[in-house]
Amino acid sequence: MSKSLLKSASPLKGIKSKLLGEHAVRVITNACFGLLVIAVVSLTVIAVTYQPPDPWLQPSRFMSKIFTSVENATYQKDGAILITGEDVPDILIPGSDTAPKAISQSDVQAAEEAVLSKALDGVCDPNVEGKAINCSDPGVMIAIEKVNLEKFPDIESFEYRTPVQGSDERECDIAWKFKPKKDNSKRMYKDYRRYKLQLEASCAYTVLEVGDWHSGKKARPHKFHGVAVNDKIPAQTEAPSNFRKGKYLYYSRGGDYCKGMSQFQWSLLCALGEAQYLNRTFVLDLDFCLSAANNPGHEDEKGKDFRFYFDFEHLMEATSVIEQKQFLKEWTDWNNRHSADQIPSKVISDFKVSPMQLQGEDSSILWRTFELPEPDNYWYRVCEGEAEKVIQRPWSALWKSKRLMNIVNSICGSLGWDFDSIHVVRGQKAQNKELWPNLEADTSPSSLLEKLKDKIQELRNVYIATNELQPGYFDELKASYKVFVLEDFKDLWAPGSEWYNETTALTNGQPVEFDGHMRAEVDSEMFMRGKKHIETFGQLTSDCKDGVNTCNYS
Ligand SMILES: *[C@@H]1O[C@H](CO)[C@@H](O)[C@H](O)[C@H]1NC(C)=O
Ligand SMILES: *[C@@H]1O[C@H](CO)[C@@H](O)[C@H](O)[C@H]1NC(C)=O
Ligand SMILES: *[C@@H]1O[C@H](CO)[C@@H](O)[C@H](O)[C@H]1NC(C)=O
Ligand SMILES: *[C@@H]1O[C@H](CO)[C@@H](O)[C@H](O)[C@H]1NC(C)=O
Repeated sequence: MSKSLLKSASPLKGIKSKLLGEHAVRVITNACFGLLVIAVVSLTVIAVTYQPPDPWLQPSRFMSKIFTSVENATYQKDGAILITGEDVPDILIPGSDTAPKAISQSDVQAAEEAVLSKALDGVCDPNVEGKAINCSDPGVMIAIEKVNLEKFPDIESFEYRTPVQGSDERECDIAWKFKPKKDNSKRMYKDYRRYKLQLEASCAYTVLEVGDWHSGKKARPHKFHGVAVNDKIPAQTEAPSNFRKGKYLYYSRGGDYCKGMSQFQWSLLCALGEAQYLNRTFVLDLDFCLSAANNPGHEDEKGKDFRFYFDFEHLMEATSVIEQKQFLKEWTDWNNRHSADQIPSKVISDFKVSPMQLQGEDSSILWRTFELPEPDNYWYRVCEGEAEKVIQRPWSALWKSKRLMNIVNSICGSLGWDFDSIHVVRGQKAQNKELWPNLEADTSPSSLLEKLKDKIQELRNVYIATNELQPGYFDELKASYKVFVLEDFKDLWAPGSEWYNETTALTNGQPVEFDGHMRAEVDSEMFMRGKKHIETFGQLTSDCKDGVNTCNYS
């Protein structure tokens, strides 16, 4: 980033170093940061910059640089990891203060007292101790809620379902919604487990055993609203006349196609921002091209699906969008049937025609064509210049795919939501002794073992997020820790897995590769969720992230 950019960003300068701290977005919640980012978000001058010489995995998730150049306020290089709506603290998202309340210790206590006082009136028969458990007895759910609060302090639970009998009459299966406490968004997930219980003489239930993640098969929710993936393209507008009444903003595919994920996101958010500004429905192309930059060892790959990576269901709820194929079909259908009432559309071929100039535009369809040569065919250019000050990028509308996040949750679940994480950058950087003279040695298993000694307690679960692909490379650490890497969980995306079934549902059964970007997303998410997380640069090696003498970049 040039010095001149920083000059124009002078009000931000003092705070910038804070933002450079690791995982600032998630962790820093102090008011100062909040106010700063509110100011910045409202000017839509956030620049999410990724510096990914290591395309496999971005060291940590943070907005590393914020600057206010009107001209060039954009992402810089592309990287593997995205900041999406979930990562922006809720305080930054207007109208997001109505989050549902998690079930608390005092809620459970109150419920327990109510049930017990009833039981003492003779409803409970303590003679049934050791006998069959009636899973729909309210006391059962309370006992389970109580034990969950103790056992999983890092998750918040919401909305328990009535338990049902498990595999025998001493067991109950139960489903509930939860979200990790660290997650800033309101997004919910589901868990369902099996519990072994006992009815005490006091009429209270005690939980003897807590089942593993997703062990409560009998309570498995099929239609648990808001937690299952439900991102089918909505059927054709019921009445064609409704389609006719709509106002649309249609962007043809521009130069962003097959560019890296962060450019795609920066551009899409610009487009969605313009649509919101103009009060129009945005026409969304689900056909996605995964850039080679996000998928090491591959060419650019067309024909992927937006829904592999992003949450289309949430997007439809958060803002007005219509899927492109359906839009084009309805548009053509209408015009073919109504020769005297063609849908008015206006083509805009120059991105310099600003959203403000289009405000009074009455045509049903505004169609930006992006046919100029690169880089004038990038979507995000619409949001440059004066438009920067007016268009708000709707960050909160864009979440990561729930399919991927469910994998993250499954891994967390199988680690009992209790693990530390380290990020070990190796790959090409470790080979490049000129720029990273010590990295390879510093990240060797024996060196890691030595360095982690006083950082992570022995026998802890340790998740290693890494671009080291050699199987068993970290086995030496198993002497001191329970070590896990992404590959240990490959069943989660293998044929027959939930992820596999849910992604092939989008491709007519064609197998979907668990690609480099997905891996990086899951790995970095796991890293962020560790109780302690230890970075390569700054913590495991004195080498600098971007090569020698870059540690104090301004
Ligand atoms: C903006 O970017 C262009 C092209 O990358 C560059 O030539 C120009 O100097 C930049 N403007 C500023 C203010 O840095
Ligand atoms: C189980 O408990 C529920 C709720 O208290 C009650 O309605 C039901 O009759 C009980 N079932 C049996 C078999 O006791
Ligand atoms: C946007 O559209 C809604 C519904 O059609 C309308 O009520 C509202 O006034 C519009 N807002 C602006 C700024 O045009
Ligand atoms: C995925 O689908 C297969 C075949 O329909 C089924 O056998 C399997 O149980 C499904 N997996 C999950 C996790 O639902």
